[in-house]
Amino acid sequence: MAVFAPYNKKTLIAHRGASGYAPEHTLEAYRLAIEQGAHYVEQDLQMSKEGVLVCLHDLSLERTTNVQEIFPDRYRDVQIGGVTERHWFVADLSVEEMKQLDAGSWFDEKFAGAQIPTWQEAIQEIRGRAGLFPEIKTPEIYREAGFDLEQAVVDELTRNGLDEPGADSNTPVVIQSFSAESLRRMAGELQNRLPRVLLLGESDQAWLSPQELQSVEGFAGIGPDKNLLWANPPLVKWAHQAGLSVTAYTFRSSAVGERFSDVGEEMTYYLHTLDVDALFTDNPDQFPVR
Ligand code: G3P
Ligand code: CA
Repeated sequence: MAVFAPYNKKTLIAHRGASGYAPEHTLEAYRLAIEQGAHYVEQDLQMSKEGVLVCLHDLSLERTTNVQEIFPDRYRDVQIGGVTERHWFVADLSVEEMKQLDAGSWFDEKFAGAQIPTWQEAIQEIRGRAGLFPEIKTPEIYREAGFDLEQAVVDELTRNGLDEPGADSNTPVVIQSFSAESLRRMAGELQNRLPRVLLLGESDQAWLSPQELQSVEGFAGIGPDKNLLWANPPLVKWAHQAGLSVTAYTFRSSAVGERFSDVGEEMTYYLHTLDVDALFTDNPDQFPVR
């Protein structure tokens, strides 16, 4: 039975890079993650105005850059849950414009001038030194705006010769998304054979039985929030019985579960007592398996 992620050992994925110590999704954070022994480095993917994939967690730029200062007029007011919110969206700026933003100072002045990397720049930085773990982020929102995120991811991997499992043994690639539809499309219409992980949110009730998990087999392993696993510990056994890998998120020293004294102890519990196969952490240096 297929297990949908290529783990041959307990596996460390640096969440947005070593984001506990350097500004998330900067080359500085990716380099530090590799120095701290990450097996994979995560990239959350968004798309620029001209359709270039860039590495950023949010749909908009204001949390992690000085966009409001550099481009004060480039916002849109949008209705979210009946409330008007003002955002500076990634999809409204070109790469050349995003490169003018400081993506480091919000975290610490010593990172002033750090830039948002394109995914291509991230691939070049990481390739040969760790695996890539891209997340297809809110593909439905990009689809409404006329962008095809899944196709763009496949095209970029193809341009880099990384679109097949085993293409570069030093650079394995795993695709992740909260969108089951998106991952099914990768497997079906786009005929991509890279391993996939279906992310499950903290209150996601959709896949919490052995029967439902069996329906995931064929397109992905599962990637549950750690609190979903805490509340449903048999989930790991059911997933393994269905041939699915389990990749838990997110372990960070700034938000350790109440029962644990530190993030290393928390990761040890999830890896060895709950038996997850891999996990995302902001603190790669605290990963307990070496
Ligand atoms: O992709 C795993 C984890 O990163 C999901 O949460 O919001 O940090 O992308 P988020
Ligand atoms: Ca992510």
